[in-house]
Amino acid sequence: YKKVTVKSLVDMKKNGEKISMLTAYDFTMAKILDGAGIDVLLVGDSASNVMAGHETTLPITLDQMIYHASSVVRAITRCLVVVDLPFGSYQSDPKEALRSAIRIMKESGGHSIKLEGGKEIKESIKRILNAGIPVMGHLGLTPQSIYKFGTYTVRAKEEEEAEQLMEDALMLERLGCFAVVLEKVPAKLAQEVAEAISIPVIGIGAGNGVDGQVLVTHDMLGMTHEFHPRFLRRYLDMHTEMTGAFQSYIGDVKSGDFPSDKEQY
Ligand code: KIV
Ligand code: NA
Repeated sequence: YKKVTVKSLVDMKKNGEKISMLTAYDFTMAKILDGAGIDVLLVGDSASNVMAGHETTLPITLDQMIYHASSVVRAITRCLVVVDLPFGSYQSDPKEALRSAIRIMKESGGHSIKLEGGKEIKESIKRILNAGIPVMGHLGLTPQSIYKFGTYTVRAKEEEEAEQLMEDALMLERLGCFAVVLEKVPAKLAQEVAEAISIPVIGIGAGNGVDGQVLVTHDMLGMTHEFHPRFLRRYLDMHTEMTGAFQSYIGDVKSGDFPSDKEQY
């Protein structure tokens, strides 16, 4: 195998090879994903929802992100690991942002960080990049700002917001970010952004005109069956499969069928 690096991702875009990315928060899942050949694993702050059951991504802490990220890093051999800077760990000032990014790199062994926003976090991004830490941007629907937006609906449908998004993407490229996530924006705008910049644009709910795709692993496995936005393709119905397995086990325990003669010492 050949290790995926921030440079190989940019080369993939140049060569027209699409980039595959999914989330991971723990060792066991990360090991399966890496073995399957995923290019990028995102230790997303969606762990706040998926792992901890919070309604938003805001409550997860830097320490908790480092715990998830270090578990993922121990499992992988090939893919690139990107770790989200959680809400509250970078918005105060650029020095705090750099300190948080350094903690992630030192304490988890992750390869890069991602943070949400454009021009408002420009100085923080510069500082982190200056320290030699690769940065992935995140524009469009930025869940850490949910209380500003009020809803999780499609972003940048209006001219003004679309223009700002394009400007922010150009700025992220200029600063030296290695890639940008575009979340829940019109496919046409996402394609225009992907054509305007030379670093990869990874979409989620951003159509097929971008350079790669990311989904939350638990969503694409069908484990979170209450959640079905249009952009989500389900590759398994794990909720049904797992419920069946759990019910079989419960039944076998109750009936005394498990363990059998062969399943004991
Ligand atoms: O935290 C996350 O899972 C993300 C992706 C949806 C891009 O940021
Ligand atoms: Na995130």
